Formats: sequence, C-alpha cells, structure tokens
Amino acid sequence: MSGMVKEDLPSTNLPSTMQAWVVREERHGDPLDAMKLETVPVPRPGVGEVIIKVKAAGINYNHLWACWGRPLPVSSLHDDPVHIGGSDVSGIVAAVGEGVDLWQVGDEVITHPNQSCGQCAACNGYEPLSCRQQKAWGFETSGGSFAEYAKVQAQQLIHKPDNLNWAEASCYGLKLFTAYRMLMVNCDIQPNDRVLIWGASGGLGSYAIQLCKMISAIPICVISSPAKEQYCRSLGAELFIDRNEYPRLYPNEQDSGAPNKDMRRFRRKVRELTGGYDPDIVFEHVGAVTFPTSVFVARRQGKIVICGATTGYQLSFDARYLWMHQKQIIGSHGCNLHNAQRANFLVESGAIKPTLTQVYDFNDAALAHDHLAHSTDFTGSLAITVD
Ligand SMILES: NC(=O)c1ccc[n+]([C@@H]2O[C@H](COP(=O)([O-])OP(=O)(O)OC[C@H]3O[C@@H](n4cnc5c(N)ncnc54)[C@H](OP(=O)(O)O)[C@@H]3O)[C@@H](O)[C@H]2O)c1
Repeated sequence: MSGMVKEDLPSTNLPSTMQAWVVREERHGDPLDAMKLETVPVPRPGVGEVIIKVKAAGINYNHLWACWGRPLPVSSLHDDPVHIGGSDVSGIVAAVGEGVDLWQVGDEVITHPNQSCGQCAACNGYEPLSCRQQKAWGFETSGGSFAEYAKVQAQQLIHKPDNLNWAEASCYGLKLFTAYRMLMVNCDIQPNDRVLIWGASGGLGSYAIQLCKMISAIPICVISSPAKEQYCRSLGAELFIDRNEYPRLYPNEQDSGAPNKDMRRFRRKVRELTGGYDPDIVFEHVGAVTFPTSVFVARRQGKIVICGATTGYQLSFDARYLWMHQKQIIGSHGCNLHNAQRANFLVESGAIKPTLTQVYDFNDAALAHDHLAHSTDFTGSLAITVD
C-alpha cells in the first residue's frame, strides 16, 4: 500500500493548530470534568516519527486512569505540558519525519501502542517491550488520538484492513493485540484448553473469547448480567458464570488468606461447567478482587496471565496453591509490532471481528468515556469519529 494515494489525501502542509481533548492535572476526576476540548499546536514529526490525520479513535480503559490521575497524575507520565490521550487510531499518514522510508503520505493506517527507543539491545533482537524507554503511546505519552492529528513512531504503524470502516479499524488495536500476546504468545494456548475469562463481555474479554473460539479452545466467561451473557453468546461462547452469585472472591480476613466459601463455590461451578476440569489458563485483568480466586481455580501446572488490575494492583493469593500445584503467574503488557501484525492478519482475514458496539462523535469523547466508566451494560468496544 505504501506509495498509493488514497481518498482525500491530506496536505503535507500541516495546519498550525487543531482541536484536541486535553486532560490537565488540576482537573483530574471523572471524564466529564477531566476532559476538555482545547486548541493546541499540531505536532511536527521528529526523526522516525509520523503524523496521522485522525479519522477515528478507539477508546480504552487507560484514558480513564489518565482522567482520574490514578495511580499517577498525568504530569508525572511525560514532559508535555498537556495530556492528549488515546492509544488507538485509524487515519491517513499526513507527514513523515526524517528516516521514515516504509510509509508515505496518504497511507491508510492503524497503530499498536508500544513505543520504545529503537536503539537498545532489547529493541534490536530481544523484545522492545523490555526497552527501558518503553511507553504506552497516548497514556504514558501525550500526542494521542483524541485530536485531529496524532504523533506516533513509524514502527507503530500497521496497514488498516481494507474490509473495515474507520471506526471499526480504530476500535480493536490495543485490546486485541494485548489479548493476542497474553493467550497466543505468553500462554501458548492449545485447542481444547479451558480458559477462564474475567470481564468476558468487555474490551479485552470480547477478543479473548474470539481467540479461544478461533483455535478451538473453550472460553468460560465470567459476566455480570443476562445482557452481557447474550453478547458473549453472539461471539460464540457457551459457558457462563454470573459473578453476582459469588459476592466475595477474595479471602475473609479471619481465614489467613485461605480460600473462602464463595471461592470454593466458584470453583465447583467451573468444574460443573467443564465436566470436572479446572481452567488451563485464567485470563486476568480485574486484579485485587478476583486474583485470589484466579490462582485458586487454575489447574495444576496451569497459567494465570495478567495484564491489568482494574480493582486494585496490590494482589494477594494463597501461595500454597501456587507452589504445591506448580502453577505459573505470567505478567503480560501490550504487544510488539510483530504480535500486532500477526493479530491484525486475523482481522484482515475475517477470523477475528472488531467488537465495536457504539460510535460517538468527536465532540462527545468525554461522554463516551463516561459510558465506559459508569455504564453497567457496557459490552465490546467504543470509538469516536474524529474527521
Ligand atoms: N497492560 C496492558 O497492555 C493492558 C491492555 C488493555 C487493558 N489493560 C487493562 O485491563 C483492564 C481491562 O481493560 P478492558 O479494556 O477489558 O476494560 P473494560 O472493557 O471496561 O472491561 C473490564 C471488565 O472488567 C470486569 N469487572 C469490572 N469490575 C469487576 C469486578 N469488581 N469483579 C469482576 N469483574 C469486574 C467487567 O465485567 P463484568 O462486570 O461483566 O463482570 C468489565 O467487562 C483495565 O484495567 C485496563 O487498563 C491493560
């Protein structure tokens, strides 16, 4: 696609200012308070960088952390005076910096969110996610996609699948690529593996279900409403646990960390659904309130793979179930370009579908984040159209 001139080719003469959704430290709080539309300078590309004319931006949970200023205020994430978030984008290359050879103005692109220095040993032959300068673009950096123009490293670019519209193309990158790395790369998931998926109807979960179905593994979906169950069914899932029936999935204080009644009932339910099997893999991102159960229910020598901690990052578990049953806890973060490209081929081939459930207008970006933060019926992924 490089070199092709596509529809509405933007000028290489970038305008001087643009509209962007900005978060500032002094107004940290819920998205409706924290996010304000401001006029800011259009970024210029440095060496190895690309400016994208944004067509649509995918919404991720990380921008809620930025709005709330948790665990860190945006001022401590990077040196930019303002924080423009947004870690997923679809758009058109509008300008390229020195040293960018593989991409040209006019290319239709999406991105993966991992930025790294490109020069160290980790970036060259080992694993860019281990680079000491590794950052999540649009969260640990500014210049994200909630703006008319976004600045990325050229190594973040991936061709936009032709079979998707702009909003669909913007909605899945960070979530699918992270789920892909968790299951396919870090857990080496196999056909018939039983995979317990927390938050199965959400951003990560909806792609974890599809990856399981794609390779004939068996998703066991944790949900919290009939509507969420219905949504997971539409993705091919058949086994469900309603977490409302297990109000406390972490130990009672008086039990010295040992599994409590709800945790044991939860494990019985998993076994009932699977014909007696414990999960080969537990897909974790909820954190404090589920992690003790994740370690408890994984099968002997099974894997608990974790990429986040929505309910708190101080995790506890009964370590006897870890060492005596030889389980593994695996940390996983984002993806590298190779992971992202492999996962994107699955979208191009139609094996994985974007789970876009609602599209907002650019002017409603704060409202969209409010939906993600507070809606009890949220499923799939959200995007905003920016053009
Ligand atoms: N490290 C990385 O690379 C990376 C990448 C992507 C995301 N993340 C992190 O992963 C987390 C999830 O992201 P997402 O995009 O999937 O978010 P999401 O779309 O909001 O989904 C989160 C799911 O978590 C479940 N949940 C929330 N509170 C819960 C509780 N108390 N107990 C059990 N389940 C609960 C909800 O499911 P139910 O209410 O239906 O049970 C919800 O569907 C976030 O913290 C995000 O920052 C990290």
